[in-house]
Amino acid sequence: MGYRIVVVGATGNVGREMLNILAEREFPVDEIVALASRKSLGSEISFGDKTLKTKDLDTFDFSGWDIAFFSIGTDATKKYAPGAAKSGCIVIDNSSLYRYDPNVPLIVPEVNADAIFGYAKKNIIANPNCSTAQMVVAIKPLHDRAKIKRIVVSTYQAVSGTGKSAIDELWNQTKGMYVPGQEVAPSIFPKQIAFNVIPQCDVFMEDGTTKEEWKMVAETKKIVDTAIKVTATCVRVPVFVGHSEAINIEFEEFLDEDEAREILRTAPGVLVVDKREDGGYVTPVECVGDFATFVSRIRQDSTVENGLNLWCVSDNLRKGAALNAVQIAEVLVNRVLSK
Ligand SMILES: NC(=O)c1ccc[n+]([C@@H]2O[C@H](COP(=O)([O-])OP(=O)(O)OC[C@H]3O[C@@H](n4cnc5c(N)ncnc54)[C@H](OP(=O)(O)O)[C@@H]3O)[C@@H](O)[C@H]2O)c1
Repeated sequence: MGYRIVVVGATGNVGREMLNILAEREFPVDEIVALASRKSLGSEISFGDKTLKTKDLDTFDFSGWDIAFFSIGTDATKKYAPGAAKSGCIVIDNSSLYRYDPNVPLIVPEVNADAIFGYAKKNIIANPNCSTAQMVVAIKPLHDRAKIKRIVVSTYQAVSGTGKSAIDELWNQTKGMYVPGQEVAPSIFPKQIAFNVIPQCDVFMEDGTTKEEWKMVAETKKIVDTAIKVTATCVRVPVFVGHSEAINIEFEEFLDEDEAREILRTAPGVLVVDKREDGGYVTPVECVGDFATFVSRIRQDSTVENGLNLWCVSDNLRKGAALNAVQIAEVLVNRVLSK
């Protein structure tokens, strides 16, 4: 017995990856439908060895469908997700719309799978921001051992985190640099992204942080522990897929780097690649298409009491979005819906 599944935003970066992952992980699917905007009506999308024809979200009736994965941005989610949830279909949402709603669980299955039971209040479950998802997978096992007081994180975020038009901008701007007259001006990003780095992800908040930085703080507290202090600097880099993070952690108790490495080696969802030699760490291009959150460069920080540094890399379209959403659905199926 399988489930009737809806993928909303199936023509997007996250939606396509969602279909790949549902097929790869052999999610129990009885029937599946791909939805997008009217302009994509009829366009073909792969699901394993099958091809789905995209339908129009605007005219779709969610009654009788079990789970809907939404990946369409906050405005469209606000318009369509409440109706889907009210019709009895459980919504797993990738946008930031419901992440901070106290009546909606925000879940990273390796960290807080038990929060799943809170879904029933609104029939909605939120998927975290991509940079938060990979960070909490890496820090939670260390927090359980030595209690984290404060995190200082700098991110190096891929353009695919901003959607398919952002991928096109990096590609076209890079090519345009070599062809006189074909230079491409910034349009999705606030400055040139080709051969550059931009210390702004999402919009500015009143206090001078950006929304992406604020999300990392608020979401880490909601998912892991409200007592953890987080300060973040989020930076967009000219990488297509794969977010990287330099994470500095201050613990309540001393945690030796070798013990931290051993804890992470057995932690769910984590793969440690940490050789102190040239290339003995993971970079974004190596994490693409993988399920793991990779941790490298684990080392003591002797400038603070009980400090540790690490480097964390993951596929932002997978653990940062589609994979995490499918893992949430797996928890739902195993613990709540089991047929
Ligand atoms: N990319 C990431 O790393 C990442 C990580 C975490 C969360 N997210 C979130 O996931 C969502 C999607 O991101 P993405 O990167 O996949 O964006 P994307 O590549 O730009 O794709 C957007 C998708 O949403 C559909 N869509 C947009 N407005 C719609 C509307 N009014 N009605 C129906 N369909 C509509 C588009 O359909 P058409 O093709 O027909 O326009 C397309 O399928 C966003 O909320 C984003 O914040 C992304």
